This record gives sequence, structure tokens and C-alpha cells, in this order.
Amino acid sequence: MSNGSTVRLAFDEQGSGDPPLVLLHGFPLDRTMWHAQVAGLAGHARIIAPDLRGLGASPVHGPWSMDHYADDVVSILDALRIERAVIGGFSMGGYVTFAMWRRHRDRFAGMLLVDTRATADTDETRAKRREQVALVRERGAGPLADQQVTGLLGKTTRERNPAIVEAARTMMGRAPVDGIVGALEAMMARPDSTPELGTITVPTLIVVGDEDVITPPKESRAMQAQIPRAELALIGGAGHLAPMEKPAAFNAIVVDWLGRLRST
Ligand code: MLT
Repeated sequence: MSNGSTVRLAFDEQGSGDPPLVLLHGFPLDRTMWHAQVAGLAGHARIIAPDLRGLGASPVHGPWSMDHYADDVVSILDALRIERAVIGGFSMGGYVTFAMWRRHRDRFAGMLLVDTRATADTDETRAKRREQVALVRERGAGPLADQQVTGLLGKTTRERNPAIVEAARTMMGRAPVDGIVGALEAMMARPDSTPELGTITVPTLIVVGDEDVITPPKESRAMQAQIPRAELALIGGAGHLAPMEKPAAFNAIVVDWLGRLRST
């Protein structure tokens, strides 16, 4: 199933090992958020980290929807002749992962859900996103980056690791305005994935920072309760951006789970 409008994405590819692990970034971030995973997990698996359309180095090319993002990722798998992979998504990347599950579930060897949620936007969130559309249209990505950075990073990181705070702010501040607006529209329009959770029959790992205030641990527990083969790992002292905030802990959890997934 394709929407007939896939675009050629920029992506990092490193390492070897089957099944490959695809890592999908969040909003308004890009594939460089996975730098420590590409470096640290490549000894354990073939890592593929794309920039979703309109973000990072991928073309700013609508239309924008979770289905388009999902089909773009499948076009990378096709180009690399990868039949099945573990599909991993962080936050908005998790929303893309659920769209892939709806449209291309035969491509999954497993699922990794990182600081994300299955539910759709509330009316309140949609209203906030409409304000963000107006903000970036008027003033560019910088003010949005300033607004997002506090919620994105945990209290511990904000107090003790200013370099990570600045790296996240810089990444968001360079996102193209049209790509940001496209992502906001895609998130506002996404459906509730809760009804599909019970159909996710592949091994699934859910990871969340215990200081995540954007997609708090209770969202992860709700997903774990409904996904038949889901494990849940909490990362202490990390907020929403757990893979960047605590890369060693995050990578160790994924390596352990991948090892068990391969032996099943
Ligand atoms: C993200 O990190 O991708 C965003 O916080 C997701 C969202 O705004 O729902």
C-alpha cells in the first residue's frame, strides 16, 4: 500500500546484524537525535535512522500525514531490500510507527516505542499546535525551540547537563518552517492508535524516561497493558528525550532486548 507520493529521505546507516533497527525521530527534531544510538548500537545491529520529510536533510515536500511519513520509511526499506526490521519510534516517530503498523505490518520484526503515546491529540493539544503554526509562520523555528526545550528535557538534565539542553535547542531551531508546520498538521490529524494495540503481535519494547512530562510513564504503562508481547523499561533521571539524555542506559536496554528478540 503506497500513497503514491513517497519522497527520497536522507538517512544514516551503520552496523550490521539482523533484524535491522530503524529509528524514527521526534518533533521538531531530526535524525541527529539518534547520534549516540547510531554509534553505540551499530556493533549490535544494522541501524537505519532517517530524517522524516521536511525535517533534517530530507526534502521539504508535502503532503503531510503519518501515512506519508510511514510510506516514506517503507520506501527506504524497499531501496535497501530489507524485508523486515525492528521499527523504533520516538514520540512523533512512535506515531509514525503506529501508522506503519496499520499499513505495513508485514515489515515488522519487532517494535520499539520510545517516550510516545497511542492516543490522538486532545482538543487542547490541537489548539496549542494551531498557535505553534502561527508562531513559526510569523517568527521562525527559534521561538518554538525555546518553548519546547523545557518540556523535552527532564529536570535532572536541565539542572546538570546544559550541553544536552543546547544541543536539543539548536536541533529544533534549525528545522525548516514548512516541515514544522507539516508535522504539526500531521500530528493534529492522526487517529487514535489505541484500538490497534491489541493487534501488535510482534515483540515490543517500550522505553520511557521517569521524568517525561510530555508522554509520561502512565502512557507507556497503558500501552504495555494492551500490547500482547510488550516489555516496559523506565530510565531514571531522564525526561522525554531519554535516548539523548541517558544514552548508555538507553542503549543497554535495547541491546539486552534485541538479544532476547533474536533468540526467540
Ligand atoms: C515529539 O517529541 O515528537 C513531540 O513532543 C510529540 C508531540 O508533540 O506530540
